[in-house]
Amino acid sequence: MPVRKPIPVFFVLWAATLLAADLETPTPLEPRLSLDPPRLTLPNDLVTVPRVEPGEFHVPPSVHEIPEGHGGKLIELGRLIFTETQTYAARYVGNGLNCSNCHLNEGRKPNSAPLWAAYGLYPQYRNKNHQVVSFEERVQDCFRYSMDGLAPTLISNEVRAITAYAQWLSKEVPVGVRMPGQGFASIQRTGAASLPQGELIFRQYCERCHGADGQGRRAADGRYQFPPLWGPDSYNRGAGMHRVLTCAAFVKANMPLGQGYRLGDAQALDVCEFIHLQERPWDPRRSFWANLFGE
Ligand code: HEC
Ligand code: HEC
Repeated sequence: MPVRKPIPVFFVLWAATLLAADLETPTPLEPRLSLDPPRLTLPNDLVTVPRVEPGEFHVPPSVHEIPEGHGGKLIELGRLIFTETQTYAARYVGNGLNCSNCHLNEGRKPNSAPLWAAYGLYPQYRNKNHQVVSFEERVQDCFRYSMDGLAPTLISNEVRAITAYAQWLSKEVPVGVRMPGQGFASIQRTGAASLPQGELIFRQYCERCHGADGQGRRAADGRYQFPPLWGPDSYNRGAGMHRVLTCAAFVKANMPLGQGYRLGDAQALDVCEFIHLQERPWDPRRSFWANLFGE
């Protein structure tokens, strides 16, 4: 009697289980886009392995914890205005940005000027305004300059809702204490910036998302999927991001997206120096001539 061969059905079943298991494996969420390997040679001192956010940070409450009732509705409205400013505060916005394009993860990400770390630090003296400003007035400034728009009044729904959202995020954060992760990364300027190097870094690390012309990329619905770094739809020359040092502090900690701390201080400063030279909306505080010939 011939020896029975192993039944291929078992093999098929086994293969099917493997396949099913493979289908169940969740796809990783971070980073949202995978980057190709760099096409050009890296400057020597560039850190090639992405580093994680150094330090431990306050964890704000999750969206699911937004309370019921009128207070909760205001908080949720604030979150929507903050993340979809183009829709929920369109009439106050002059460019193509949303608040959360710079205050990442809905204003939660450490070293991306998170709202939870900001709220308790106001009222605060600001050199820009030469006076003590409230949180609400600080919000107005980002509308004027970062959003190149018009400031909603202090008693507008927009300012009230954003303030409610920030106050809720800052639950359990001590008032008046500068928390780790507040603002952006620290940056040390050593030596003069190099524009050719800045352009090289832009080409190598930024243009694939922000576009070769820096004008960002739009999704099918016309909204920006990748926000513009310069041009008419970007922040204006009065914005904090327009300061090379502030821009570098943001870029160092947060860009390329999902790969914060990949660039060193010098590279972040160089690329911001390059971005800084490009055309963008004028500073609304300055005259026509000052904008035309000034910095
Ligand atoms: C183009 C990027 C950008 C956009 C868009 C933007 N901001 Fe900002 N925001 C900044 C920068 C940069 C700072 C810090 C400025 C500085 O150092 O003076 C800041 C600071 C703030 C602060 C104070 C943070 C702190 O730690 O003191 C608040 C509050 C704020 N922004 C709210 C908003 C709101 C609300 C919007 C949308 C209406 C918005 N921002 C849109 C770049 C941006
Ligand atoms: C993987 C895609 C990607 C890469 C690469 C990338 N960015 Fe971004 N960047 C984004 C996205 C997306 C946002 C908006 C983030 C959000 O809304 O959550 C952003 C926001 C920004 C902003 C604030 C918003 C604005 O439009 O001004 C700046 C400044 C910025 N990036 C600079 C850079 C620089 C400089 C580089 C290169 C060193 C870079 N980015 C590389 C995707 C990218």
